[in-house]
Formats: sequence, structure tokens, C-alpha cells
Amino acid sequence: MALHETNGKPSENGADPTLTTRNGHPVYDNQSLRTVGSRGPATLENYQFLEKMSHFDRERVPERVVHARGAGAHGVFESYGMVGNEPISNFTRAKFLQEKGKQTACFVRFSTVIHGGHSPETLRDPRGFAVKMYTEDGNWDLVGNNLKIFFIRDALKFPDFIHAFKPDPVTNRQDGERQFDFISHTPEALHMITFLFSPWGIPANYRQMQGSGVNTYKWVNKEGVGVLVKYHWEPLQGIKNLTTAQAQEIQGMNFNHATQDLYEAIESGNFPEWELCVQIMEDGEHPELDFDPLDDTKLWPKEQFPWHPVGKMTLNRNPENYFAEVEQSAFGTGVLVDGLDFSDDKMLQGRTFSYSDTQRYRVGTNYLQLPINAPKCKVSTNQRDGQMAYNQGGDIVNNPHVNYEPSSLGGPKEAPRTGKDHTPMYHGALVRQKIEKQNNFGQAGDTYRNFEDWEKDELILNLVNTLATANKSIQDKMVELFRQCDEDYGRRVAEGLANTDVDKSNKGPIGTTTSHEAVQQAEEEGR
Ligand code: HEM
Repeated sequence: MALHETNGKPSENGADPTLTTRNGHPVYDNQSLRTVGSRGPATLENYQFLEKMSHFDRERVPERVVHARGAGAHGVFESYGMVGNEPISNFTRAKFLQEKGKQTACFVRFSTVIHGGHSPETLRDPRGFAVKMYTEDGNWDLVGNNLKIFFIRDALKFPDFIHAFKPDPVTNRQDGERQFDFISHTPEALHMITFLFSPWGIPANYRQMQGSGVNTYKWVNKEGVGVLVKYHWEPLQGIKNLTTAQAQEIQGMNFNHATQDLYEAIESGNFPEWELCVQIMEDGEHPELDFDPLDDTKLWPKEQFPWHPVGKMTLNRNPENYFAEVEQSAFGTGVLVDGLDFSDDKMLQGRTFSYSDTQRYRVGTNYLQLPINAPKCKVSTNQRDGQMAYNQGGDIVNNPHVNYEPSSLGGPKEAPRTGKDHTPMYHGALVRQKIEKQNNFGQAGDTYRNFEDWEKDELILNLVNTLATANKSIQDKMVELFRQCDEDYGRRVAEGLANTDVDKSNKGPIGTTTSHEAVQQAEEEGR
């Protein structure tokens, strides 16, 4: 029975529909302020109004500084228990991967990177693919993108890179000149730029795109032996990308198309699935390779390092509350379980500071206590208090007085070890240096040559349209960099630029300015 009278009748399911304040007071009038006479003035003791309005004033938390626009879904991950013909335990002791058929609940957030929380989902931009697995051993986050490589390989450069791609601080417009000004000084970005300006830079939706951990991680087995791994998600729905023209057409009618597509597919029981694949490499520097395995601007060639499927993820439940589940979700590269480890990849190490740091600011000190972020296994920690502390953890049952360790009075105790520690040796001078094997152009050239003709055409068109808004010296530098990737690549961009007549003030979103006809005409004439 309801504690107080309901305005109307109980709803069909018997629940009391009465509107209350957060303090539980029934609201008898939600239409009018309390005023002196019907025309006002209002009075300060209008507590119901003050609570309602001051909460509304605080409805927004800061957006993610990157990846602000996103969509999420819950699901389940099922392990295959094997890597090729070998048991997975040969490589990792992570419990949730050991048994074939073992299921682990998960949550995924897909996103675009550069623009704000309500920006169109058709923009040329990498797509985020962040997965949280609620394993029996605590959470594992794999914070990945759709593309398998990245623009930079040193975390110190990340804020500059993002500033160059975000809108201009004066005009608040994204600006091809600023982007290519930065890129022309960043030759390691050429491989990623080649993907980004091709149709791979606009996935058709979130269901039909790949995911990748991008950075190099490690797996560690019971003996403490580590191997280097790269993670990839392969969509069982297939892969679909858009041309610029297709994206613009969709955007003219719907700027939420990817969120809508994901939500509606799941709602109608058409559950999207991805296989988790790993590439494995022996731990070490690998002098025989022409790239550094810790360099996130490089692909590990599939022929040499095959993709081994190790499990399948199915997304089968939509969030019930977008803010609580999607906006407040917090993923980080430091969130690993026993058996999964970091590599020395410098980007990965920089990222690992950034995520939890921003989340303490964006969501709050106790962001890990929110249901979407809290592990589903037991948590027993001596961390205390802070704003919005809800679950104090500790050994509540046996002795809640002991919130320190070690102790002979009770309290949480250290866990038994599950295998030998992985203990890599380090010896070297502390320096600020670039990696030795940079090879900035080789794979970018391969990627260009491997594109189908229509993908190459799109790439050139999109690059020319954006570069046309930059000054001549930036254009020249970029053409030289494209030439170093592949002679034909550089030549086509140079010819496109020579034949385009773009209004330089039209600094719209990247890859979307107006010189289609000029470039197509140049292509047709074989110039
Ligand atoms: C989100 C930093 C590189 C994928 C974020 C956020 C920050 C950040 C601060 C916002 C997190 C939040 O508010 O919850 C960095 C830094 C990087 C870096 C400092 C390099 C040093 C990368 C790379 C990838 C990536 C290489 C791809 C593998 C993501 C994804 C999200 C994200 C998917 C959104 C996560 C979500 O859906 O909540 N990053 N990032 N980032 N980053 Fe990075």
C-alpha cells in the first residue's frame, strides 16, 4: 500500500504514480510557484521550486574532452578457450578466458571523437569502441577505436593533436588548415591520415565496423611468461563504410543515425556480434621487423601475425537510462585483470594516467561506485569517503572498524597469488627520445596501394577538399609527405590541388568542402 494518497488511482501495475521531491515529499502543485497573490512576487521559502530548479541547473556534467558523442549497449562475451589449436592458458591466465563457453557480462560504448555531445554521427572521424567486461576477477576495459592504428606514438603529443583537430579557439570552427599544419609536422600520422580520409574514415554505423585495442598489450601465463598482443573486434554483420556524398545525404536527414541503428537493432532482437581476435608476438624488440611492435602507428601484418579468434561478444540489451549508463560510464586502459598486462608502448602508458584522471574530474572521485562502473564481483577496499561515497567497501561483515592493512584485528587481506609474477628487466638511460625504427611512410604506402580504385578516388578527393583550405606551404609539405608514402599518391593530391578552386573561407568539417567537380574533372582527364 502506498504511504500517502495518490493524486489519481494506482497505475495498472499497482505502483504509486505520485510525483514527489527528492526528499520524498508529495508534490501537490507542479504548475505554480508559491507567490503573494496570483501575479507575484515569489518568496524564498519555495523549497519545492528551489530543489527542482537548482537540480536542473546542475543536470549536465562536463562532456568527455574527446569522444563526447556516444551510444552504448549491454551484452555478453563468450570465450572460445583456445588460441588456434592451443589452450588459451598457454598464453594467459585471465580467468574469464580459460574455459570454452564461459560467459562474462559486458557493456560497450561506441563514439565519435572530435566534436561535442550532440554532433552528427556522419562526420569523418575515428569511432571509439570501448568495452567493459565484468569478470569474476574484477573489470577489464578494452578502450579501442574502429581503426587499428593511431596518429601519434608519444602520449606527450596528444593534447596538441586534439587541439589541432578540435574547432579553432577563436572562430569555433574545425579548420583543415590547422589540422594539416599539425600533420605536416607529424609524419608518423600519415598512415592514419590515409585511412581517415578514405571511406574507412566514415563507418556506416556502429554495428558494421571493426574495433581494435590499437596499443600493444601483454598476456601473462601461470609461469609469468609474457607475450605481446594486439586485440581486434571483427563484426559478424560485415563492414560497411560511407563515401562523403553518402554521409552528407544521411546527415541532411538524420544526425543520430548510428545511435538509432544500434538501438533499433537491439530492440528488434537483431543482436550485433563481434569476434574478439588477438595477434600474438613473442615479447622483445624484434630487430627482424621493419617496425617497432610498440609503435601504434603500425599494423602487425596479418600474414605474419594471424588473427586468432578467442571469443564472441553479443550486444543484447539497450540501456534504460542513457545518462546513468552511457554518459557516466568510465573506461580506462589501466583497468586490466590478472593475466592481462601493459606493454612498454609509450602511448598506452600515457593513456593509462589520462582516463582515470579525467573521470575523477568528469564524473567524480567515486565514479567507480556507480553501478555501470562498479565490478560485479566482491569489492573490498580501504579507500574511504569523498564526495558521493556510497559503498564504503572494507570488511563490513567481520570487522568494519579496520579500514587499514596489515592488521591482526580483521579487515581485508592480500589475495593469494595465482601464478608467477611477470618481471621484465629494464636497463637504460632516462631520456627524451623518439623511437629508432620510425618507418613513417612504408605502411602508409602499402595501405594506399591496397585500396580499391574507388577508395583511392575518395581518399584523394577528401584530402584535396580539405587541404585546399590550407596555405600553399602546408599544401606543399603535405604533398611531399604523400609522395614519400607513394609516388602516385603524392602526384594525385598535387594534381587535385592544382585543379581545384575552393573558397578558402569554407573551412567546414574535414573532407566535406565543395571542390568535388574540379577534382573529378581532373581525374577524368587523367591529369
Ligand atoms: C576517451 C585520452 C589515445 C580511445 C578518452 C578520454 C580521454 C582520453 C581523456 C575521455 C575519457 C572520459 O572522459 O571518460 C587519451 C590520451 C591518449 C588517447 C591521453 C593518448 C595519449 C587513444 C587511443 C585510442 C583511444 C590511441 C584508441 C585505441 C578512446 C575511446 C574513448 C576515449 C574509445 C571513449 C571511451 C568512452 O566511450 O567512454 N581518451 N586517449 N584513445 N579514448 Fe582516448
